[in-house]
Amino acid sequence: MEVITLALTRDFFMMLSQNKVLNSGAKRWGLKLGAQSVVAGTNIEEMVESVKKLNENGISATIDNLGEFVFEKKEATEAMNQILGVIEAIHKNNLDAHISLKPTQLGLDIEYGFCLENLREIVAKAYEYNIFINFDMEDYGHLQPSFDIIDELSKEYDNLGTVIQAYFYQSEEIIKKYENYRLRIVKGAYKEPENLAYQDKKDIDRNYIKLIEYHLLNGKFTSIATHDHHVIDHVKNFAKKNNIPQEKFEFQMLYGFRKDLQLKLAKEGYNFCTYVPFGNDWYGYFMRRLAERPQNLNLVAKQVFSK
Ligand code: FDA
Repeated sequence: MEVITLALTRDFFMMLSQNKVLNSGAKRWGLKLGAQSVVAGTNIEEMVESVKKLNENGISATIDNLGEFVFEKKEATEAMNQILGVIEAIHKNNLDAHISLKPTQLGLDIEYGFCLENLREIVAKAYEYNIFINFDMEDYGHLQPSFDIIDELSKEYDNLGTVIQAYFYQSEEIIKKYENYRLRIVKGAYKEPENLAYQDKKDIDRNYIKLIEYHLLNGKFTSIATHDHHVIDHVKNFAKKNNIPQEKFEFQMLYGFRKDLQLKLAKEGYNFCTYVPFGNDWYGYFMRRLAERPQNLNLVAKQVFSK
């Protein structure tokens, strides 16, 4: 019964996350519904202050200028300019930070070539300042074109990497192809069909560990992005047993989640990087976090009732 309720709650929030009317409406609301606990402000100044605080605690940041469901060239160009602004802000403030972005925000749903050129401009600017760009991975429909763009830009630049989602059956094949890249490995956040992805949590977790171990042993640099302490403990032991140097991996978590554990890992001497989302387009991101972990609704309740 509990499993069914959880699945329904997950589906409900995933459906809300994809609602275009609410997505665009929320841009005018400011941070609401508890999103302020997990989104680091609506503008660059607020985000910079949040990142400085993380850096003071020995934590680096990967900054996501939130945005999705972009179907107009004008919006994609605006997003590109905003991300170029974030790159300037990282450089100017000497932040220990890099960029995470979503190809759909830069026009992947509009026109492949247009998106490629927007991303080229971003990667080239970041390259000048020695700033790394991580391509977040979205749902299955965007997987191949995102990898095509990465392949194309990798011919010119080496400051880019991406994400491997462990729920896909094909993730093992993908990780082998991209083992010379800095990779973030995650369980996977989107709702994918049975013919493409594991549905059972145990299968996803098993594949997740397998991929992490593979990349730690064979890959360039591994970002283990999870809030799951079982996985984190496993990685710590695995790294010790296999003499994986600390410089070859880091843990990542989302801004506002398990803050004590984030600080603890950084204090223990592990590389730690917090994913810092900011901006007006927070709605889809926030709904996906609620879908993943309905307990996050506590965040909403606290915000609503603490007025
Ligand atoms: P999961 O949700 O499976 O939880 C496992 C266990 O961990 C829980 O049962 C609980 O014991 C513990 N736990 C989890 N959260 C907790 C909390 N807040 N407090 C206390 N205990 C908690 N996805 C994607 O498809 N594309 C992407 O590009 C990215 N990028 C990305 C970056 C970063 C930095 C992170 C952390 C995650 C992503 N994701 C992502 C999302 C990812 O795929 C996944 O959906 C979420 O991280 C949820 O899975 P977890 O591994 O965190 O644990």
